[in-house]
Amino acid sequence: MKNVITIFGLGFVGLTTGLGFAEKGNKVFGYDIDKKRNENIAKGNIPFMEPMLDKILKKNLNNNFVVTNNPQNCVKESDFIFICVGTPFSDDGSANLDYVFNAIDEVLTGFEDDKKRVIVVKSTVPPSTTKTKLIPYINEKYDFNYRNLLIANNPEFLREGKCWNDFINPDRIICGVEDIKAKNMLEDLYKNFEAPFLGVTFNTAEFIKYLSNSLLATMISFSNEMSIIADLTGDINIKESFNILHMDKRWDNCNMKSYVYPGCGYGGYCLPKDTKSMFYHSKNLGYEPKILENVININENMSKYMSDKIISFIEPKDKIAILGLSFKPESDDVRESPAAKIIECLSCEGYTNIIAYDPIAIDQFQKCYEYDYVQYCDNLNETCKEADCLVVVTAWEEFGKINSKYCSKKLFDLRYFL
Ligand SMILES: NC(=O)c1ccc[n+]([C@@H]2O[C@H](COP(=O)([O-])OP(=O)(O)OC[C@H]3O[C@@H](n4cnc5c(N)ncnc54)[C@H](O)[C@@H]3O)[C@@H](O)[C@H]2O)c1
Repeated sequence: MKNVITIFGLGFVGLTTGLGFAEKGNKVFGYDIDKKRNENIAKGNIPFMEPMLDKILKKNLNNNFVVTNNPQNCVKESDFIFICVGTPFSDDGSANLDYVFNAIDEVLTGFEDDKKRVIVVKSTVPPSTTKTKLIPYINEKYDFNYRNLLIANNPEFLREGKCWNDFINPDRIICGVEDIKAKNMLEDLYKNFEAPFLGVTFNTAEFIKYLSNSLLATMISFSNEMSIIADLTGDINIKESFNILHMDKRWDNCNMKSYVYPGCGYGGYCLPKDTKSMFYHSKNLGYEPKILENVININENMSKYMSDKIISFIEPKDKIAILGLSFKPESDDVRESPAAKIIECLSCEGYTNIIAYDPIAIDQFQKCYEYDYVQYCDNLNETCKEADCLVVVTAWEEFGKINSKYCSKKLFDLRYFL
């Protein structure tokens, strides 16, 4: 049977989820509070760079996938309401749940009837949020006990740049469900996915997401700390050392290898905020997590370490080319981008003669960061020719030949990739 689903939030997670369920034959309504984003998607345009989504949107638009400006009407028809809004960090590092509460308010003002519906929180929220915050909020404000409303959480593990493939071919589907009806409905919704369906408690589902992201961040910070020790020791080929480490057969066929590799720090939307939010969550429980604290500190110090290293080899008048602005290749996401942090560290020391290049993320970067001293160039060769010193911040494949082409220039490969 075709399920009817409304998605709140059409970002990386919400749009991919909506299109994924539409592709699987469900009827999906998508809604984003950002009117421009809604309009663009309704015209068939994906608001960010993400392989495959374009094609899937065109195929399903106004058929199985409909963009709506009136989510309340769609909620009335829906069996599932997926909350996929952002959960950015607050100033103290805790997860800001305002967008989740606002979305829940929008959902719950939508109907009066007793149809059975599941509200599924897909946004990443700290362990115990559903139990100690969302359910009490809904009970108190909306008399939840008297409605046929079910609640579940369903953390998402997709990676930007691989959203479609990761959503449609998940390793496992984890649902926090404490009600057999919600569990059965979700298991049925996911029955066409070839992955184990794991129904666990609310807290367990929320915890697994943080467990995963905290581990990934830890592996990266561990590698970065090791690379600093190697760098300070001198005469150590860091790239070679990590590649030889990975030749141990215990790493065979392990996709996690790329996380045990040094660079200039993790960025993007998830790892920075999820590690901070887990740290804050633990501190609130009375336990100060030592490893997480250092994972976060090492990451925050990487841009300073790298910019100090660059500065020690150049003069303030030298032109520095920042190559790569997105937080990782194949993506135009510049949130918490290491490039921005390195530019800021350089400028603090008076090194503002900067030219920047990225194959796809220049527009997003300029929208997010206002550096009037940075010149942007949309051509890699022109950027490199103009600069005295080349700094590779994102491991875009097209940077692969710059060391042989511009061997007379000072080169800093902050990703150990060349
Ligand atoms: N980006 C990832 O790789 C990734 C992976 C797994 C999990 N997550 C988690 O999923 C959640 C969403 O992440 P994202 O990257 O898709 O975020 P995003 O910023 O790309 O998208 C969130 C969208 O929600 C919209 N929104 C905010 N309030 C709304 C409301 N009341 N109603 C409707 N729309 C609303 C925003 O306008 C925005 O377009 C976060 O909690 C994140 O931690 C993200």
